[in-house]
Amino acid sequence: MWSVDKNVDKDFDYPQIKKAAQLLRDGNTVAFPTETVYGLGADATSDQAVQGIFNAKGRPSDNPLIVHISSASQLTELVLHVDHTAKALIEHFWPGPLTLIFKKKPGVFSEMVTAGLDTVGIRMPNHPVALAVIEEAGKPVAAPSANRSGKPSPTSAQHVYHDLNGRIAAIIDGGETGVGVESTVLDCTVTPPMILRPGGVSAEEIRDWIGEVVVDPSLEDWDEKPKSPGMKYTHYAPTAPLFVTKGSHQWLQETIAAYQQDGKKVGLLAPIETINHIKADFLVACGTEDDLSTTAHSLYESIRAFDEEAVDIILAQSVELRGIGVAIMNRLVKAAGHKWLIEHQDDRSL
Ligand code: TXA
Ligand code: MG
Repeated sequence: MWSVDKNVDKDFDYPQIKKAAQLLRDGNTVAFPTETVYGLGADATSDQAVQGIFNAKGRPSDNPLIVHISSASQLTELVLHVDHTAKALIEHFWPGPLTLIFKKKPGVFSEMVTAGLDTVGIRMPNHPVALAVIEEAGKPVAAPSANRSGKPSPTSAQHVYHDLNGRIAAIIDGGETGVGVESTVLDCTVTPPMILRPGGVSAEEIRDWIGEVVVDPSLEDWDEKPKSPGMKYTHYAPTAPLFVTKGSHQWLQETIAAYQQDGKKVGLLAPIETINHIKADFLVACGTEDDLSTTAHSLYESIRAFDEEAVDIILAQSVELRGIGVAIMNRLVKAAGHKWLIEHQDDRSL
């Protein structure tokens, strides 16, 4: 595994960056850090290279990949039309954790990138290593999160190594990622634009900038079929069964005690404010309720921590559905396979 100083500026003398870019040009898969999670990159114009991503991850072929670019000016070569709303979003949020869906230009990408759709998701990541590798490769880089399909996304090079060692050409170690959850996916082919996956940029932030934004109904009603292919899969799942909880500290403590009386070892994932008040067999403090960006930052590392412990059940406390809390709850509910434990039955907010 290579180590690259996270604060590298776009200095292409870096031998590791050059080597990674060469590997990409030669059709290999390379994992690199972005500001959200680690991505597993390949040349988006090569069928064989993109196939390498699906093979390494064990990813279903009907789930399209996001194409990463290092400069917004590349966009016109890749997509049919960028309207004024998309331009405003790009100016404000790129580089950053916002993926925009456009009608694709035919014949530019491998068909596997877009899984047969006539649209493509494009993003310019806000991380110097990612930007340098993409620019040096001189190609649009298809990159899903660098985890085995179904597992939590990797937020450190060690997570990538754990999941994909021996299956990919290289990992660039840029330290821990910052945001911790993936980019927001926003469909710009419809008016008003529609959020298909909540992520690092909140609906409130997008609304503040462009006005009206709608949310894919399946994100709020679990009986609806998601519009984004990737959203229908179980995801982020630890080995032990996970339940999302909503209720008072007293109820939570009683719930844990009841499982323990049945001989079960109980793990609890919650912000520090709860962890300080509750006893369980294995406690993982995940950020603070006062600043949910800290919870997002540690979320996947926290979920992965349970795989190292022999717990029989994991309870994960829900967070408030505001700002980045929407993305956190989306990931938790998916990790739980939609299993909830709720103190007051009418209190389910998703
Ligand atoms: O933060 C991120 O977005 C990370 C880093 C590596 O950039 N990437 C990432 O990629 O999360 P991935 O493949 O794990 O998730 C891509 C999501 C999937 O839910 C996929 O279905 C959706 O984006 N997507 C991609 N292209 C799409 C399209 N044309 N239409 C609808 N959804 C699309
Ligand atoms: Mg993923």
